[in-house]
Amino acid sequence: MSKKMTKKLVIANWKMNPVSGKEAESLFKTIVKNLPTLKNTEVIICPPLIFLDKLFKIRTTKIKLGAQNSFWGEKGAFTGEISAGMLELLKIKYVILGHSERRALGETNLEISKKIKAILSVGLIPILCVGDKERDENHEYFNFVKVQVEECLNGINKELLSKVIIAYEPVWALSTTENRKNASSSDSHEMNIFIKKILTDKFGVNRELPRIIYGGSVNEKNILDFIMNGGIDGVLVGGASLDSKKFLEIVRVTESI
Ligand code: PGA
Repeated sequence: MSKKMTKKLVIANWKMNPVSGKEAESLFKTIVKNLPTLKNTEVIICPPLIFLDKLFKIRTTKIKLGAQNSFWGEKGAFTGEISAGMLELLKIKYVILGHSERRALGETNLEISKKIKAILSVGLIPILCVGDKERDENHEYFNFVKVQVEECLNGINKELLSKVIIAYEPVWALSTTENRKNASSSDSHEMNIFIKKILTDKFGVNRELPRIIYGGSVNEKNILDFIMNGGIDGVLVGGASLDSKKFLEIVRVTESI
């Protein structure tokens, strides 16, 4: 099945930043004010939930808001968790799931798969993060990503597969990883092809596949290369999304292609 023309995605993962509502508001306002007209790009910002209310008040049609996690249960004795249904009430559309920083805190593929199903069941869009922790000579990292993709998408409603966005984020290339290395657009391209193969092997060839994006130290300097040569439908941006100038440049370059 041919893939319909879709807009490129630029998704900001603010993580646990900035530290105050005032700063969040000011960063968001600067981005809104300076965003170019968007025809080819969808911009999504995922701030800490506590700031959502303030950001929704800054009205714009150019940016959608998202969350960085959710829980699989609908309600009950789950102290500190927020359900998919509750996120829907907040009027967000996207939810990052399975980020490597959450996996490092103990989140498993099984839990992520339950979260994806919960998010899809309320009509929101999961952004599933997968990624190898290190590159080894025997190319075991391919298998590592394969297991993540397969287990996280296990049992999902095939009709909803194309709603999912998969973010390939090699942990060794994140801006906050100690002794990090640069991932290249060909690393991204190679993994993109590999993930598509995993998906067609698992779900069959006649399905519209998830969009696949890249994340890991994307910035205003490497964005052109990743978008042109990385084989991707967009990017997930951490560190550079907290700097309005850098983020706006990432959007501007993406939009210009
Ligand atoms: P980075 O983070 O762009 O700072 O590497 C990306 C992410 O963790 O999603």
